[in-house]
Amino acid sequence: MRLSPSPLISAEQIRQRVAHLGRQIDAEYSSLAGEDGLIFVVILTGGLFFSADLARNVNTPLRFEFVAARSYEKTQSNGHVVFTHRPERSLEGKHVLVIEDILDTGRTASAVLDLLKADKPASLALCALLDKPSRRITPIQAKYVGFSIDDHFVVGYGLDYEQQGRHLPEIFTLERE
Ligand code: IMP
Ligand code: MG
Repeated sequence: MRLSPSPLISAEQIRQRVAHLGRQIDAEYSSLAGEDGLIFVVILTGGLFFSADLARNVNTPLRFEFVAARSYEKTQSNGHVVFTHRPERSLEGKHVLVIEDILDTGRTASAVLDLLKADKPASLALCALLDKPSRRITPIQAKYVGFSIDDHFVVGYGLDYEQQGRHLPEIFTLERE
């Protein structure tokens, strides 16, 4: 795996943006959420790092659920989404925010939203750290986006290339070998 010599997005840029998203989420949900609070449904594994930092910038009462979806082979989506983990508790009547690392073709997030809609949540929205709008196949928009980027394959801060590089604190572009 060869990464760009300098990050596309630095740890400090991520920190500031995540803090801002946390404030936006509080502004929207603190009054709505009531005693049940808000539920983050984190798309594993990429959304893990982002959701953990984002949660620490949110004051609205918060709970976590997780979904695991497979759709990706190396750098190409094969377009088929399979769930290997689903939320353990019903989301009926809850305010749900789906946390995704990156919106690429949009197939994964749209399959997750369809899955969760069946539970009849009170509200359902999407928060993505990164968005590659030029790659979109399934029309879908996130309510909250950290950074909109060009069509690069990126690694770090949760995003992997064949399971490598998730732990990096910055986001790099993958360079062709
Ligand atoms: P989509 O279904 O095509 O939107 O792809 C979403 C999933 O593909 C994301 O949750 C990521 O796991 C993975 N993915 C898409 N683009 C990238 C990238 O640039 N780097 C790492 N993973 C990516
Ligand atoms: Mg991945």
